[in-house]
Amino acid sequence: MAEEFIFDLTDAGRSEVVDQLIEAAEHIPGLVFTYPPISLWEPRDATASDPDTLWAGSDTFSHNLYIHIPFCRQKCSFCYYSVAVVQNDTQVIWDYLHCLEKEALQYLPMMRTKKIETVFIGGGTPSRLNPEQIDFLFERVIRRFDLSECREITYECSPDSATEDRIATMAANGTNRLSMGVQSLDPEILRKSRRADTPSSVVRTYYHMADSGVPNVNIDLIAGIEREAFDNMQRTMDAVTALEPMPTQITLFTLSVRKGAINDTTLREEDHAKLFRRSLALFRYAKRRMTANGYWQYSRNLFPRDNWIFHYQDNHWGNNGYVLGLGASSYSHSHGYTYGNAFTFREYMRRIQAGGSAVEKAFPLSEDESLRRHLVLAMKHRELDVARFNSFYPAGSEPLRQFRPVFDALAALGVVTVEDGRIAYTEDYADLSDRYTRLFYSSGVSEAVRRGVGQLTGAGSNAFNFTL
Ligand SMILES: C[S@@+](CC[C@H](N)C(=O)[O-])C[C@H]1O[C@@H](n2cnc3c(N)ncnc32)[C@H](O)[C@@H]1O
Ligand code: SF4
Repeated sequence: MAEEFIFDLTDAGRSEVVDQLIEAAEHIPGLVFTYPPISLWEPRDATASDPDTLWAGSDTFSHNLYIHIPFCRQKCSFCYYSVAVVQNDTQVIWDYLHCLEKEALQYLPMMRTKKIETVFIGGGTPSRLNPEQIDFLFERVIRRFDLSECREITYECSPDSATEDRIATMAANGTNRLSMGVQSLDPEILRKSRRADTPSSVVRTYYHMADSGVPNVNIDLIAGIEREAFDNMQRTMDAVTALEPMPTQITLFTLSVRKGAINDTTLREEDHAKLFRRSLALFRYAKRRMTANGYWQYSRNLFPRDNWIFHYQDNHWGNNGYVLGLGASSYSHSHGYTYGNAFTFREYMRRIQAGGSAVEKAFPLSEDESLRRHLVLAMKHRELDVARFNSFYPAGSEPLRQFRPVFDALAALGVVTVEDGRIAYTEDYADLSDRYTRLFYSSGVSEAVRRGVGQLTGAGSNAFNFTL
């Protein structure tokens, strides 16, 4: 335990923080995407969104690449991401890929010398690309960047589109982590959530992945979709634990109900706090089934076997990594800003095809807000390693000192323990981590959030435009 981290339980301000903490217990977790909240980011004009401005500044953190592929076969009932339902219209997919290339070229002068540590190709459904399109994506977009020290490339898939030849093409291009959205393995829940799959078709695709030679295969599950009952979740966990080999990682989400999703309408009359409690109960059941089968809780949502770490998430959330986001709805963290692209793929393409920037809004990060961003996302993600955190800041600067009353209050109420240089959630709170991150917001951001600035209103409003 670093000496500077022994708390003084009489610290001034503690009682006020405990009050805020008790209030925070009413927050529904799972809604903190990033910091400062996207609802507070300001619209950008073309001159203010050039890469030279956005990426000028010091290079303290790792560099990572996110690419958004919005295409899906259907819109699932629970999904709030930026998706475009296309069937056999491959031309629009080609047009989009050409836009990605153009956008990558806009950033290359600033990014050419940055070593990309991780790449995440997410969606939507990147496995909707056929082998020729996957090759194009790697050749004309991803490999333009410096991948000489890249440790992880994740390719996100859906069970209905990740065919063997596509998986082989992803692998041949260096993908070493496949991530498949499974959500449920109960036939009734799959049908109700409008998925195209059956449990057996999902399992078939999973085995293609497990046999592909790609070492790390993750599946995503959501606890509590479509008002599922305990029996439904039990069937899912029975099927997951029967897989042989079992996935190297399972990502388990509680259900978030957000604007833009179909279930935001169908569940309008429901009490969202009650929905969350139901989802959490099923989450905890699934967690027990996983831990009984050799998984451990690495972060709020990630359950690996052995030491399979998800490096992109570790860099992005855990260690304040820079992320260059390309494509519709992607958001970036640069040397001086957090900023976001146009949300819908049509608006994104319109902007790029017109020769402009896709950036729609941004928030300049002062040193103080950058530190808070680091802390909010690290505490949302998992426990905090104090020495690792401090290593990003000038020696002796004690960046966490001002937050002592908050950690002290969290420890006093049993939310975290502070031991051996680690601030770790206690067992029951590991599933609720982002409920408490608001305690680290700056007063300006807290006040704006309390007043509801920018939330779910205005023409540009979308699912990401909302936070606690
Ligand atoms: C952007 S989706 C892409 C997955 C892929 N297209 C598929 O087959 O579903 C990434 C993951 O977000 C999670 N997700 C989507 N909507 C969610 C919601 N409302 N609540 C919790 N998790 C959600 C799902 O588990 C999903 O696999
Ligand atoms: S869950 Fe996946 S397949 Fe379904 S709409 Fe969202 S991105 Fe598309």
